[in-house]
Amino acid sequence: MRRVAVVGAQWGDEGKGKVVNYFAKEFEWIVRFAGGANAGHTVYVHDRKYVNHLLPCIVPDGPGRGFLGAGMVVDLQQLVGELEALAADFPGVGAKFAVDPEVFLVLPWHKQQDILLEKMRAAPIGTTGRGIGPAYTDKASREGIKLCHLFDEQMLKERLENSWHMKQILYQGQLTMPPAEVAAELIRLRDRLTKLGVQFTSAVDMGNVFRSTSVLFEGAQGVLLDLDFGTFPFVTSGSCMAHGVSSVGFSTFELDDVAGVLKAYTTRVGAGPFPTEEDSSVTQGIRERGKEYGATTGRPRRVGWLDLPGLRYAAIRSGLTSFVITKADVLNGLETVKVCTGYRIDGVVRDIPSTSHDFFVAEPVYVELPGWPSTNHVNFLKYMTFIEEQVHVPITYISYGPKTDEMETKDNLIMSM
Ligand code: IMP
Repeated sequence: MRRVAVVGAQWGDEGKGKVVNYFAKEFEWIVRFAGGANAGHTVYVHDRKYVNHLLPCIVPDGPGRGFLGAGMVVDLQQLVGELEALAADFPGVGAKFAVDPEVFLVLPWHKQQDILLEKMRAAPIGTTGRGIGPAYTDKASREGIKLCHLFDEQMLKERLENSWHMKQILYQGQLTMPPAEVAAELIRLRDRLTKLGVQFTSAVDMGNVFRSTSVLFEGAQGVLLDLDFGTFPFVTSGSCMAHGVSSVGFSTFELDDVAGVLKAYTTRVGAGPFPTEEDSSVTQGIRERGKEYGATTGRPRRVGWLDLPGLRYAAIRSGLTSFVITKADVLNGLETVKVCTGYRIDGVVRDIPSTSHDFFVAEPVYVELPGWPSTNHVNFLKYMTFIEEQVHVPITYISYGPKTDEMETKDNLIMSM
């Protein structure tokens, strides 16, 4: 009956997919609760690589099942594509997934709007172009389409007509694909999902099931990209924090652990403040060794050093109770590693930013620690101890490679030294 949330503790791309996939065998349900196909969760199954954008990272030939919760925005075309690709290797896998009919849909228009809006912005956000912002905007402005509307075709058509009418005024006729076409496409996709065996089941119907079994909640992006508390406006539009589990009917008080995944260094993709960013031959080497290119867009990620003020902020905002550290092996061989211990803001060094705005004006204060030849070396242990003492959150697991089983507990690592 364990319930654990796994969230990103930085700006996303910390390796959550792999971590979730590793733990997946211990849980009956893996639940995505926010975000959409902007996420790119890379997992290896029997040495074969899969990138899930929407699907929860279940073990496809294991007993666990996946749930797409109502806090998500779902592009049905993408979902069908991912399921069909997985079903080619694991026939019948579609029946392992259920989607809450309350999810909002990402429509073809949303992707067009995403691109148009980025062009209109004085300071573009660098979105993934997956229609995430416009889909969440339509949810908040009450124009959105939910999955359940696909089961009332009359209502679906009326809502699409009305939304199209408004959008054509707002976007001066620039959107293509009239509502009748969108409706027909959505119905086709609904039917393909049904054929794949996917169930449409709400969190209300799942309430007793979830409460009588083990559930792993898989976060998307990272706390510093959260709509409310990330580095606004350079954020995504969904919740990236553990409290997003409320969209699946849970309270954070019901969680046994909120595991923050942290990369041993920091990356960010897209625009926005990044106090510890460094563009040097050292960080370029980290980008190459760490294959720091977006799983969704292929864009090179910006690279910098570990940022403890940012981690402290994430730990408080998202109630982190443990850390999983990833990609420390990428730093193997560096003579020293820099770690930001404080932010200088208006001439005063602070341990933690008070507001998201502080990230924009902070100057990083660094210490330099000795590097390690391999993650079995005592200097890596000291690095982890330093993080734990500085952030007051224990590191429980270490991921030392991209494959699912390249992971161990910190205790085991110490024993093996
Ligand atoms: P959007 O979510 O596509 O609207 O993009 C907003 C910002 O969040 C951009 O800077 C994206 O690069 C970033 N972003 C969105 N999803 C991810 C992710 O899964 N990992 C890292 N960055 C992301």
